[in-house]
Parts: sequence; C-alpha cells; structure tokens
Amino acid sequence: MAFVAAVAGKGGVGKSTISAILVRALAERSGKVVLAVDADPNSNLGEKLGVKAERTIGDLREDLLKRAEEISAGGSKQDAVLYQLRLAMVEGKDFDLVTMGRQEGRGCYCYINNLLRTFLDDVMDRYPYVIIDNEAGMEHLSRRTCQKMDVLIVVSDATAVGLRTAERILDLARAMEIDVRSSVLLINRSSGELPEPSKELVPSGFDRTVVLPFDRAIEELAISGAPLASLPQDSALFIAVREFADGLR
Ligand SMILES: Nc1ncnc2c1ncn2[C@@H]1O[C@H](COP(=O)(O)OP(=O)(O)OP(=O)(O)O)[C@@H](O)[C@H]1O
Ligand SMILES: [Mg+2]
Repeated sequence: MAFVAAVAGKGGVGKSTISAILVRALAERSGKVVLAVDADPNSNLGEKLGVKAERTIGDLREDLLKRAEEISAGGSKQDAVLYQLRLAMVEGKDFDLVTMGRQEGRGCYCYINNLLRTFLDDVMDRYPYVIIDNEAGMEHLSRRTCQKMDVLIVVSDATAVGLRTAERILDLARAMEIDVRSSVLLINRSSGELPEPSKELVPSGFDRTVVLPFDRAIEELAISGAPLASLPQDSALFIAVREFADGLR
C-alpha cells in the first residue's frame, strides 16, 4: 500500500516547492520511484521537478467523454483506455508525475470519473509514496478528490491569514469526513523563531507543527526558473524537509 501525503494551504506559501523537495527526499531515502501528483489546475509541480507534462488527466477526461459510448461497449477498449492513461504519466529519474489538469466541464462524467479513479488507485498502489500537490484553498477538499490520506500536510507562512487558512483546511477535512490518519502543519519561510503574535495563532488541532526555514537558494532558483533538482544538498529547506520526511513512516 502506498503512503499518501496530500499537501494543502493558502496560495503562494510553498506547497509545490515543499512537494517537489519531499518527492526527492523520499525517493532518496527509499531508493524507490515516488509518484508525484499535480492536482493544481494551474499546474507547475512538473516545472519544479524539471519535467514537462504533455498530457493531463483533464485532457484525457475530455477525450474519453467524447468516446464514452464506444468505451463502455467493450472490455478490450477499456484496456486501451488504461493504456492511454498510462501514457499521460511522465517518468523522471526517481519519480513519476501525473498532472490532473483542468477540472471537468459540462456533461456527465460519472462513468469516466469512475474509470479514472480505478486507474489512479491502481497506479498509486504501485508506489511506496504518493505526494499530492493541491491547489490553494479548500476547493479540492470540498470536491473530495482525495478521500483517504496517511498524512495531510498543511503549509502556511507565519501570517494570521495563512495560519487561519491552515486551521480551516483541517476543520474542513474533518467536516468532510476525509480519512486523514495524521496531520502536520508546516510553517514555511521562517527566519528563525516565530514572532510572538504568530505563536498565539498557531492552530492546536494538528498532530505536529514543524517550522521550515527561509532559504535564499530556493528564491534564486525560483527567479531563474530552474528546477529544484539543481538545489544543493546543503540547502536549508532541503535539509529541513529531509528531516521531516524521515519522520513520516
Ligand atoms: N522556504 C522558502 N524559502 C524561500 N523561498 C521559498 C520557500 N518556500 C517557497 N519559496 C518561494 O515561494 C514562492 C511560492 O512557492 P510555491 O510556488 O511552492 O507556493 P505554492 O503554495 O505552491 O503556490 P500556489 O498557491 O500558487 O500553488 C516560490 O517563488 C518559491 O520559490
Ligand atoms: Mg503550487
């Protein structure tokens, strides 16, 4: 069974950066290929990982919808669909990437979505670790795109808005009865100890809270648009995320 980690949080707090570093850290530690899922419709996890997704699950969903009758007619066609779906995955050195892409348009997607879910569940189970980078906010939770996870990682900065959003995300996950085994709050881009006002705002509902450092090397990579693979092993954020990853399973 795969260990599934979903990464959520307010916009721009570092979800994709941390997801990409986590993929690298877990691949290194396990010596196995990790599955990265880009669940943000405005996808950029691939960029951070240094690969390009030509085809998304959203593109496939639309193609499949157009051919729904043909597909539901026979089993061998379903196999062909599954084969197509596998083609939508990009292989990196120590990770594979699935990009979810845009959400569904109008039409009846039930059959297609079930087909896709079966495929994705089947694919996920083949990896030791699955990291899902979500879009900002809570939309993904209310859509219940991921109903079961070993750890919900909510990223925040030290601001009141970030921390309140983190709390709301955790509350919503509970309200939606999403099966969350454990929850971690990551307070990112910290320049040392948290300021007093932030300390008071840190929500108490998470199983664990970890503070991650501001890292100039990350900022420089973001400016040049270089993938995080070129991040040195001694980068402050990489070291901190690796330490966090070591405590995951
Ligand atoms: N610890 C850090 N130190 C320095 N810069 C960081 C750190 N974490 C993230 N950043 C920078 O912050 C910016 C936002 O990061 P990122 O894109 O990962 O956030 P996000 O939460 O995925 O954003 P979005 O909500 O748009 O998906 C990027 O430029 C990234 O390089
Ligand atoms: Mg992002």
